[in-house]
Amino acid sequence: MLASANPDKAREMRYVLEEIGFEMVERPPEVPEVEEDGATLEENARLKAKALAEATGLPAIADDTGLEVDALGRAPGVRSARYAGESATYEDNVEKLLDEMERHPDRRARFRSVTIARWPDGREVVAEGVVGGTITHEPRGENGFGYDPVFVPDEGEGKTFAEMERAEKHAISHRGRSLRALAEKLSELDLTSL
Ligand code: IMP
Repeated sequence: MLASANPDKAREMRYVLEEIGFEMVERPPEVPEVEEDGATLEENARLKAKALAEATGLPAIADDTGLEVDALGRAPGVRSARYAGESATYEDNVEKLLDEMERHPDRRARFRSVTIARWPDGREVVAEGVVGGTITHEPRGENGFGYDPVFVPDEGEGKTFAEMERAEKHAISHRGRSLRALAEKLSELDLTSL
């Protein structure tokens, strides 16, 4: 079961996982959203996966992602969703990021994504995916979500993630890498005993 209540993330997770061969079940809307108050990406991913697995009795996969900007001491990091405030929109967060970056020549950054597959009995598998890149001066592109319009991955021929097709983004994205690493670890388990 997909443990993400964010439809943009859930869409991307489903895309990558179905490409690998998983059959994903949508998160039931009646399960309340989990407060992501962990100190690390791994803690937040665990909070989400645990809540879903316990509420539904099914194994759940969760992802928690942060954008780490070197010149900002690796902020916004685990606070990426709430960078510009508790109810910040994607646009608010991007605007704050570009404002903060105005006086910084070093625009190195990376997306880090931690994914966890967790069973109702507490067993779990954890993986991580990272993609390095730079922060642009202006948003570019209409695809993707969040900070995609201002992030140019190193392997992306100068395009932002928001200027890429989905397949192009996930061939190199933090989420694609993390979920493929998770699938690799899961394939080494005897899932029939779980
Ligand atoms: P979380 O994993 O739901 O805590 O995501 C944190 C925030 O990071 C989201 O609200 C987005 O703004 C941003 N984010 C997560 N994944 C991506 C991505 O793939 N591209 C761009 N921004 C992302």
